[in-house]
Amino acid sequence: MTGIRNILILTGAGVSAESGVATFRGPDGLWEGHRVEDVATPEGFARDPELVHAFYDARRARLGKVGPNAAHQALARLDHEWPGELLLVTQNVDDLHERAGSQRLLHMHGALNNGWCLRCNERFGWEGMMGAAAQCPSCATYGMVRPDIVWFGEIPYGMDQIDAALLRADLFVSIGTSGAVYPAAGFVRTARYRGASTLEINLEPSQGSIFFDERRYGPAGTEVPAWVDELLAG
Ligand code: APR
Repeated sequence: MTGIRNILILTGAGVSAESGVATFRGPDGLWEGHRVEDVATPEGFARDPELVHAFYDARRARLGKVGPNAAHQALARLDHEWPGELLLVTQNVDDLHERAGSQRLLHMHGALNNGWCLRCNERFGWEGMMGAAAQCPSCATYGMVRPDIVWFGEIPYGMDQIDAALLRADLFVSIGTSGAVYPAAGFVRTARYRGASTLEINLEPSQGSIFFDERRYGPAGTEVPAWVDELLAG
C-alpha cells in the first residue's frame, strides 16, 4: 500500500484468542452461561454486585496466566517502527497489547486491571480481591468500587480521540472482531466515508466485511505479523 501515513487499528477478542483468552461469541463464549444483562450492564451490577465482581475476578485471575501472542507483538513492533501517526484502539479489557509493548493504545471498553469508584470518580489499579464491599483506595468509601469496564448501554472511552483519528486515517485496519457491537462496528464505515483504505483481518468474515477494501482471513497470530512485515517493507 502506498501513500499511507496515518493508521488506525481496531482490535477485538480474536487478537487475544491464541493467547488463550476466550472470545465472546465463539462456542465457548466468555459469558460462561451468564446472561449479558446480568454481568455486563450497569443494571446487572446494581442488582447483584457480588456476581459481577466474581465474574471479573475469574477473568482477571486467568489473565495472570496468559501472555501476548505473535499478533500483539507484531502490532507493538509496528507502533515502535511506524514513522507516521498510529493509534491502536482495542475493545479488549485484557492488557496483552501493553504487555507486548504497544504505547499508542486506547482501551475503549476499559481495562480489567482498573477499578473505578462511583463515589469519588477516581480510577486506580485493581488491588487483590476488591469485592462488592471493598473500600475505595482513594476516598475510603466502602461498597462503591466497580470494575472499570464499559458495559452495554455505557459510552465507550476516548470517542473524541477515536473520531479525530478516523478523520485523519489513511488506513483503517480491523483485527479479530465480529463487528457485532457498536460504536466500534461502525468505525469502518466512517473511515471509508472519510477516504481511508480499509482492511479486515479475522478468522472469518465479520458482520461488516462488505465494507472492507481488503480482507485477510486466518489466525491473527499468522496474518498480523505477515501484514506488518509487508507494511514496514513498504
Ligand atoms: N484470529 C483472528 N480472529 C479470530 C481468532 C483468531 N485466532 N479467533 C477468533 N477470531 C474472530 C472470530 O471469528 C470473531 O469474528 O474474532 C472475532 C471475535 O468476536 P467477538 O467474540 O464478538 O469479540 P469482539 O468483536 O471483540 O466483541 C466486541 O463485545 O461483548 C462485547 O465488550 C465486549 O469488547 C467486546 C465487544
